Amino acid sequence: MKAVTYSTYAGPETHELREIPIPEPGEGQVRIRVTAAGLNPWDWHIYRGDPWLARFSFGLRSPGTRVVGADAAGEVDAVGPGVEGFAVGDRVFGFLGFGGCADFAVAESSKIARTPGGATDAEAAAVPIAAITALGGLEDGGGCEGKRVLVIGASGGVGHMAVQIARVLGASRVVAVCSGANAAMVSLLGADRVIDYTREDVRECGEVFDVVYDTVGTTSVPRLRRILARDGVYLAAGGLGGGPVLGPAWAIFRAKLSGPFARRRVAVVGTEPSTENLGRVAAWIEAGRVRPVIAATYPLERTAEAFARLEAQHVAGKLVVQVA
Ligand SMILES: NC(=O)c1ccc[n+]([C@@H]2O[C@H](COP(=O)([O-])OP(=O)(O)OC[C@H]3O[C@@H](n4cnc5c(N)ncnc54)[C@H](OP(=O)(O)O)[C@@H]3O)[C@@H](O)[C@H]2O)c1
Repeated sequence: MKAVTYSTYAGPETHELREIPIPEPGEGQVRIRVTAAGLNPWDWHIYRGDPWLARFSFGLRSPGTRVVGADAAGEVDAVGPGVEGFAVGDRVFGFLGFGGCADFAVAESSKIARTPGGATDAEAAAVPIAAITALGGLEDGGGCEGKRVLVIGASGGVGHMAVQIARVLGASRVVAVCSGANAAMVSLLGADRVIDYTREDVRECGEVFDVVYDTVGTTSVPRLRRILARDGVYLAAGGLGGGPVLGPAWAIFRAKLSGPFARRRVAVVGTEPSTENLGRVAAWIEAGRVRPVIAATYPLERTAEAFARLEAQHVAGKLVVQVA
């Protein structure tokens, strides 16, 4: 089968589209005939080994040989022992970790769900990491019912889902921060107000929020203090830059450490995709309450180009590789 692979920590220009054996599903796994793969910063942090922190989990000297593509959608093609709830022919989407940019990929059956009716496979592939990072953070932070929510980094993969999911979870007001170029897209997703960070300082917005969901970490918690209610929560989902050792984790550590000084609660956002939470998001997509935005799709042969664009960190919504 065709697959986009890498075997050293380096940029996407070193990735190879080549023939490799079709993987076999093990205990609790299914094999998916992939039609689309969703791209995430997760992919490029790992294939670059940047930050270094990632190398402790994925190989100190080398990542081994891996296939890019953390999220994917397609059709179940084979079922391993012990799998319940999925059968050959089911349309599914989910989190794989690795392997999506290939004709076939293996997934844990506990991390996939049925593709929502009415959604294309490309749309479904755009969902897993972004939507579950948004949902998990907003719920673990205490939910959104009746709350005023600020999403910083609202045009990105995670942020555009956070805007919509905050609405679904009952936020009374959603304010989004992104660049002016992406403001129209974010408004269409349901933001009550969009703040263009290139022209306006969010701290001067004249509002107070119960929840600040931040994917970029460009403004520290103490500096956000006056727009975050005393009993509010700052949700640290990610960060730009951060250096070669910690990368996005730096913004998260900094937020966690500075929370007590700012006398504001800080919660660290994680990503735990499951059949249950992916299924909840799928139901919202089917009901038209959440819409994955695809900025562009690329054929498998142009995966490296797609990653180079993602690494520039200004994609409005998601990039998807169309495999079949
Ligand atoms: N905690 C977790 O488990 C978890 C899971 C997934 C992702 N993450 C992290 O969350 C972060 C966002 O992920 P993503 O998938 O949304 O990334 P993405 O799609 O690449 O989005 C990047 C975002 O950064 C914004 N941005 C770029 N430069 C900016 C600047 N100078 N000032 C303010 N905003 C700027 C972009 O907005 P404009 O284009 O409008 O400028 C865009 O919204 C990453 O750090 C990622 O590693 C964490």
